[in-house]
Amino acid sequence: MEPTEQTKQEVLNQEPFSFSEQAVRHMKKPHNFGEPERFVGHGCITGSCGDTMNFWIRVLNDRLFQVHFTTDGCVSSMASGSMCASLAEGLDASEAKTITQSRILEALGGMPEAEHHCALLASDTLMAAVRDYYVRRPQQSWMRAYR
Ligand code: FES
Repeated sequence: MEPTEQTKQEVLNQEPFSFSEQAVRHMKKPHNFGEPERFVGHGCITGSCGDTMNFWIRVLNDRLFQVHFTTDGCVSSMASGSMCASLAEGLDASEAKTITQSRILEALGGMPEAEHHCALLASDTLMAAVRDYYVRRPQQSWMRAYR
């Protein structure tokens, strides 16, 4: 069925989504993109869209001092992973759960609704890396907070 003239006009009237300067900067020059030589926690998740994200963390005195990531997904996943990595660096490992989908989206100045899941993939993958860190160090009492 052909869209009506009114529907076509409604589509034409919609503002195209424009990414914030912050988001574009993270897309073009992502923070800590690539697998590091050394790490103490690794998370890898393939989202429902079929894209895969990896996070690796390096921890010193329970603090995330380096957070690396990769993605084979869209530019929004690049921006999300990059923002997630930069927000997480410097936090205690136990604070990583504060880097939520909404926090990433807010820090990026928003993204098209159809790409909000990219931010969720980033926060979930970071948490998978933190859980892996706690599994590798079972003496850590924080571990229960991430199950
Ligand atoms: S569309 Fe798959 S991560 Fe963005």
